[in-house]
Amino acid sequence: MEPVYVRTIAERKPIYRGGITMFLDLPLDVGEEAHAKWVERYGKEFTFPNLRSPGPSLLSQAREALISGDEEAADNLFAETIKHTIKSYDEKSDPEKWGDMAVQLPGDWGPSLPEKRKLREMLTELAHGRVLEAMCGFNSYFGESDRVTDLVALDFCKEALERYEYPERERILYDLERIAEGERMDFFYDESFDTVGIVAGVNYLSDAFVVYREFHRILSRDGRLLVVNATSHGYTDMIKKDFEPEEQSKLVEAAGFSVRVEELGLTKENEIGEYFLIEGTKLHKP
Ligand SMILES: C[S@@+](CC[C@H](N)C(=O)[O-])C[C@H]1O[C@@H](n2cnc3c(N)ncnc32)[C@H](O)[C@@H]1O
Repeated sequence: MEPVYVRTIAERKPIYRGGITMFLDLPLDVGEEAHAKWVERYGKEFTFPNLRSPGPSLLSQAREALISGDEEAADNLFAETIKHTIKSYDEKSDPEKWGDMAVQLPGDWGPSLPEKRKLREMLTELAHGRVLEAMCGFNSYFGESDRVTDLVALDFCKEALERYEYPERERILYDLERIAEGERMDFFYDESFDTVGIVAGVNYLSDAFVVYREFHRILSRDGRLLVVNATSHGYTDMIKKDFEPEEQSKLVEAAGFSVRVEELGLTKENEIGEYFLIEGTKLHKP
């Protein structure tokens, strides 16, 4: 299987109003196939609420053109119209929801700023050799380090990878849920990484164990798996499983690692929950 590289770079456009984070529906180029599906699903044409400006006016013009018999103009206008289709939040797939956040979220996920820096320093310190930052989002928890030879960022959200802090790093688009369906990340050789890090991600996986097994395969002898997560954070509509440090450390162990668990003390007074690091060192015989 060939990896899907993201090589483009895009800007974030954070929206922050009056202390509330806003997420606006982004116009979506659905394409004709998706449009056909939409019609099949709803049994009717695009309606004005599904269209972002200038979609409604284009749709009116398309209708006018069709009525007047100018089919070619109608086709062209209709093709333009569907570029301005929007989906409601509920209709969006998880990567699309993450995509909106990558583009529009003012900050990022994880602890607040000074604590974030602390976590980043700690993980950078623990990383060595070739590093995989899985479920990386648009920020990185691995800074520059002499001990890190190479870093690959992986996420299933193109918008996040396009806005990843270090665009010069290799960025791979991949849905880790495919591993639960029996796939392997064949584009990574056995024992080709020395460190795998995953911050604020495992609660979005339906079967973290099989993913840990796959990380075990790609890690070198004595390679390190660094799992950081909070017990109380996340987007409830997308979370697959609440993060329980004890349960997760057992899964990491069962996947073939010796395990150390650390409570990180990154939570502020007004926050609930706690951040944990589960540090796995690859055992040679799981
Ligand atoms: C809460 S964010 C954490 C991002 C970053 N690690 C951080 O702490 O700032 C979760 C990230 O996981 C990614 N993600 C969620 N499900 C995924 C999956 N099945 N495969 C790959 N990435 C996924 C999302 O796109 C998002 O960037």
